[in-house]
Amino acid sequence: MRIAMFSTKPYDRRSFEAANGAHGHELLFLEPRLTAETAVLAQGAAAVCPFVNDELPAPVLAALAALAASGTRLIALRCAGFNNVDLRAAARLGLTVARVPAYSPHAVAEFTIGLLLTLVRGIHRAHQRTRDGNFALDGLLGFDLFGKTVGVIGTGRIGALVARALAAGFGCRVLAQDLVPDPALEALGIAYADLDAIVAQADILTLHCPLTPATRHLLRAETLARARRGMLLVNTSRGGLVDAEAAIEALKSGRLGGLAIDVYEQEADLFFEDLSNRIIPDDVLARLLTFPNVVVTGHQAFFTREALAAIADTTLGNATRFAAGEPLGAAEVTEAAMVPPKP
Ligand code: NAI
Repeated sequence: MRIAMFSTKPYDRRSFEAANGAHGHELLFLEPRLTAETAVLAQGAAAVCPFVNDELPAPVLAALAALAASGTRLIALRCAGFNNVDLRAAARLGLTVARVPAYSPHAVAEFTIGLLLTLVRGIHRAHQRTRDGNFALDGLLGFDLFGKTVGVIGTGRIGALVARALAAGFGCRVLAQDLVPDPALEALGIAYADLDAIVAQADILTLHCPLTPATRHLLRAETLARARRGMLLVNTSRGGLVDAEAAIEALKSGRLGGLAIDVYEQEADLFFEDLSNRIIPDDVLARLLTFPNVVVTGHQAFFTREALAAIADTTLGNATRFAAGEPLGAAEVTEAAMVPPKP
């Protein structure tokens, strides 16, 4: 099957070429992001493989569907999230959408713990200081994680690992929120509560739910106003969960004691690129980068050898099954996936 891959980097080429030995697809590595203008590059490809910041609203899907004569029928996302796809339009246009439901939840969970510790202990600042010969500790005072209250929003694959590490590993009191509580976490003493109750008590809040219409700006001015003063916020899930402008106001007032983000709502034009010789056009991100208690990484939580290998293998496996007319199982994303399950 000929697969047109958008937004590819050299590391994508390496992992997909290595995994393709077992699948034998014809891979077309394209650097541009997928847009209505670039969709035409998929001409002749039976499948299109977008990444996390490619946007697939109805016009882009329509442009792809217009290539149907040449056989484009499958959108094989090489990521877990699918908030960037208009699933209703895809269904209407007869395009099947697949994703990588789970590749390495460990990659994201471990990175989350890394960001959390960086923020709590000021490791980002210490790193900069010591490289400048400054070994003073003033301003680096942290706190023990042991005994602190951490809120975990979304206890699916990633959130459950984070909650376990914090409760069983660090001795934190973990409060969780999910549409479906996980009895295995409850057995560890993790209590489920609603968001308001959690933010009122949490020293740290970490986000692991998907971005849906219901979760967009879950953390906004009103939510932050109810937060315990000085709460630290960690977001490795999706940028749209946090209203970044409200977070800036909360950081300025001290309501938020720190922010660590691997994702940012307007990241699509910024992340995954080297902009170090350019002026950052996004004033909100530029402001965030000025705070000493803000850590920003460029959507790298997934970026481990194991995760890249699993992403490539699952994505190509989805294409192989689709070409053989086999069901895609949990990898297939339908409109129904947008509807949250009932508790
Ligand atoms: P998952 O589907 O296993 O877990 C998500 C959980 O969130 C589920 O338990 C679900 O019931 C819950 N949920 C849904 N709506 C909710 C709501 N309104 N409030 C509270 N909980 C809600 O997904 P997984 O694998 O744990 O991934 C979580 C998120 O992490 C993904 O949606 C994706 O956006 C993000 N992610 C980020 C990566 C990165 O590199 N930064 C890489 C991979 C995923």
